Amino acid sequence: MNRKYRKTVIAGNWKMNKTPTETKAFMTEFKTIMPRGRWCDVALCVPAVCIPAAVRTMRETRIGIGAENCNANASGAYTGEIAANMLLDAGCKYVILGHSERRQYFAETDETVNKKVLKVLAEGLKPIVCVGESLQQKQTNITNEVVCMQTKAALCGVSPAKVTDVVIAYEPIWAIGTGMTATATDANRTIAAIRAAIRELFGDAADQVRILYGGSMNDKNATELMSQPEIDGGLIGGASLVAEKFEKVINYHG
Ligand code: PGA
Repeated sequence: MNRKYRKTVIAGNWKMNKTPTETKAFMTEFKTIMPRGRWCDVALCVPAVCIPAAVRTMRETRIGIGAENCNANASGAYTGEIAANMLLDAGCKYVILGHSERRQYFAETDETVNKKVLKVLAEGLKPIVCVGESLQQKQTNITNEVVCMQTKAALCGVSPAKVTDVVIAYEPIWAIGTGMTATATDANRTIAAIRAAIRELFGDAADQVRILYGGSMNDKNATELMSQPEIDGGLIGGASLVAEKFEKVINYHG
C-alpha cells in the first residue's frame, strides 16, 4: 500500500513549555494562520495545565489537542498523576506515550508504555507512541532491532481492530533538539522496518498505521522527509512552539 492511503499527521510536542496564558495567545494566533485544507490531521500536545486553554481556544477547529503522558491506571492513590479518562473529558484526542525524555528521566519502560497504550486505546484516545535509538545504538548498527522491539512491546495485547488508532513516532534520540536529523532515506528505511514489525503482529493492518518521523524536523527539512513513501508525518518539538513555524511545517509541500 502506498502512503497516499494513509492520512498525514503533523503533531506538535510542546514538552515543558508555555503557560496557560501563553497557550491561549499561541492558539489565538495559530487559528488565524492555520491551513484550512484537510489533507492532514494536525495535533498539538501540550502540558496538562494548558489543555483547557488549548481546547477552549481551538473549539470548532480541526486541530486535535493532546497530552504528553498519562497514567495507566483508571483512578486512585497516584498523587500527581493524570488518568486517560480525565484527558478525554478535558477534550483531548491524542496522548504522547514513551517519549525518550520520559524513558530517560522518568523511568518509563517498554512495559509501562504498553500498559498506557492499552489504557489510552480503551478510553478512545489515540496514542502517539515514541520509539528511537540512542547514538550508541545507531553506531553499533542495532537501530532496527531497538525500534522494532520497542514497537512490538508497546503494541503487545492491542486488538487488531484498535491498532490503526495507534500512531508511532520514530524519533532517533540523537536527533531530538540537536538540529541533527536522520537522512530522509535512513528515516524511511527505519520506518519501513517498524512497519514490517507491525505486519508480523497484525498483518495488513500495518498498512493503515501512521508512522511519523521526529527529531529536529522543521519547515526547512519537512519537504524532503515527507517526500519519503514510508514517512506519514512528523512529531515536531521546537518548531511547534512558534505558530508561524508550525504552520510552515504543516504546509511543507505548499
Ligand atoms: P525536536 O523534538 O523537534 O525539538 O527535535 C521532537 C520531539 O522530541 O518530539
